[in-house]
Amino acid sequence: MLSGKTILVGITGGIAAYKICELIRMYKRANAEVLVVCTPNALNFVTKLTLQNLSKNPVAVEEFDVKDFNPEHISYADRADIMVIAPATANTISKISQGICDNLLTSIACAFTKPVIIAPAMNCNMWENPIFQENLHKMHYEILEPESGYLACGYEGKGRLCSLEKIFDKTVELLTYKPLNGKKIVITSGGTIEDIDPVRYISNYSSGKMGLALADIAKNLGADVTLITTKDVSRKYNVVKVKSALDMKEAVEKEFENSDCIIMAAAVADYRVKEISPQKMKKTSDDEITLTLVKNPDILKEICARKKASSPAGLPSCPLIVGFCAESENLLENAKEKISKKGCDFLIANDISRKDIGFSSDYNEVTILDKNGGMKKLERADKRTIAGEIFKVIYG
Ligand code: CTP
Repeated sequence: MLSGKTILVGITGGIAAYKICELIRMYKRANAEVLVVCTPNALNFVTKLTLQNLSKNPVAVEEFDVKDFNPEHISYADRADIMVIAPATANTISKISQGICDNLLTSIACAFTKPVIIAPAMNCNMWENPIFQENLHKMHYEILEPESGYLACGYEGKGRLCSLEKIFDKTVELLTYKPLNGKKIVITSGGTIEDIDPVRYISNYSSGKMGLALADIAKNLGADVTLITTKDVSRKYNVVKVKSALDMKEAVEKEFENSDCIIMAAAVADYRVKEISPQKMKKTSDDEITLTLVKNPDILKEICARKKASSPAGLPSCPLIVGFCAESENLLENAKEKISKKGCDFLIANDISRKDIGFSSDYNEVTILDKNGGMKKLERADKRTIAGEIFKVIYG
């Protein structure tokens, strides 16, 4: 199943390290080449000799372990098709998320440009620590969350390494499941910024996380991705930074012709300031001021109309267009009205009144509507999982 693939297994210093011996055997049985890198602490739980015997390769711990002219972290990063860090301790996760490279494993992670799976395992209080959670969600890797149960430290709670089958299946999926191969997918994200003057603007609370998750997952699924975003994003795929709704419209229109799918996850401002003041506006003696706003173009509606106008009769029309719908009340009612008004193929409806999902949150819960009246609810999950499910539905 995995022949021709090289898996780099990174082991850190947690009690679950002993379980990774079996994971290595599973990869070997599937004919993968397995390279193993350990943090120095990992070797307190499992021996180099065991890992070497199972992987049939030298096990590296320090930068200069394997004697040749190549810098170890770069050659490992180049050779492997995927990196699987399991168990991943709070310490290693936090260091990787901050870009710290203080041992071979963290240096490889920093230099790694292909998919990375992280399977955390730790004490439940460490797992719940808000500083750790912030570090964890800063990373754009595949996180296989730990399970709840009895922990080696004597506590009961969330922190046990997820099952080896789950890690194995995710590895196979990321290495072999490429349903979006050859597809050019354009995704917008973030809230647009409409200037008032050189120091002030009108915007909204969109974090851009849902669009970013969609772009990351589309890339994992083999797509050629362009992310048009108002946020600062650093990724290996094509990222186009824009500011206002008018900038976004121009960027989307430029991509329209060559794209197979456009997903409008951005929160586009409906109005902009009629006349942007070139100088900072001064306070006046009046208690009130009036800003005149003018309507922005509805990008989604316009590209749907363009698609309709340019689709040859009888042929499947391109691109597939997916809109988002942010509502604070009457979610489904408003979403049904919106999909017919905009004319898109799918509309992803989310309830922005809930604090545990949507804007700024790492989680979401959505209902996908299609143009024929079909509906599918995706239960609350992290945004990357939701993104994967969205692609399953729209390309299902
Ligand atoms: N959208 C757009 N251009 C706009 C406004 C919205 O392309 N000027 C897109 C968004 O990217 C999203 C969809 O339209 O995919 C719905 O956005 P939403 O803010 O929910 O709806 P609006 O059309 O703005 O309507 P309202 O604000 O009245 O709910």
